[in-house]
Amino acid sequence: MKRLTAELRCCSFQPSQFPEDRLPQVAFAGRSNVGKSSLINLLVGQNQLARSSNTPGKTKGIHYYLVHRKLYFVDLPGYGYSKTSRAMRYQWDHLIGSYLEALPQRSAVLEVLDCRLPPSTLDLAMRDWLQARKNRFAVVLNKADKLGKSALSKAISDIAKEMGGVPIVPCSSHTGMGRAELWRCLFDLLGIEGFSLWSKAEL
Ligand code: GTP
Ligand code: MG
Repeated sequence: MKRLTAELRCCSFQPSQFPEDRLPQVAFAGRSNVGKSSLINLLVGQNQLARSSNTPGKTKGIHYYLVHRKLYFVDLPGYGYSKTSRAMRYQWDHLIGSYLEALPQRSAVLEVLDCRLPPSTLDLAMRDWLQARKNRFAVVLNKADKLGKSALSKAISDIAKEMGGVPIVPCSSHTGMGRAELWRCLFDLLGIEGFSLWSKAEL
């Protein structure tokens, strides 16, 4: 798998720390532990870039990874993690809300779900919010390696029905399944020709 140039540019705990340049951004949103950080690592072909962990609530603050000096991958804290203190949860949810409000043009959100679980109330609320604001977004069904072929097809069609007409990409950050499809989906969402950013050989 090709390794793309990517580096941690900054970690923001409040809106005043969001980067001011207007590069396109791809934000990874979803419940804690669904694999947002792992998907970033899969897409850039680097195991250790974003920190992932079995312990939910790993990503604290908003991490901006600059990819090929052309766009940011933005790793958001997971929402709805019940073991975080209420004050912390409020602070994170507020931070995520402020981030999404300030999203630059030509940016997109990937809403990451665990393919084994139905969308939660928070997942549906996030979808409603993104749709209402006309943000570009798609749903990633991660951990596809955990289901057999027919269970995965059923999960895709059930979740597609619940999420209602949103592009859905099944993926596994463990096996690499769906990586190319997810890149293609990102290029569509951002309205860019991927290969104008980097050569085909790099993907
Ligand atoms: P927070 O930062 O807490 O919000 O979590 P996150 O959404 O960033 O999840 P993270 O990438 O840290 O992954 C959580 C756990 O799920 C880790 O133990 C990963 O190894 C595991 N995981 C992530 N993606 C996959 C996948 O595609 N398949 C399987 N089987 N496990 C995965
Ligand atoms: Mg994380």
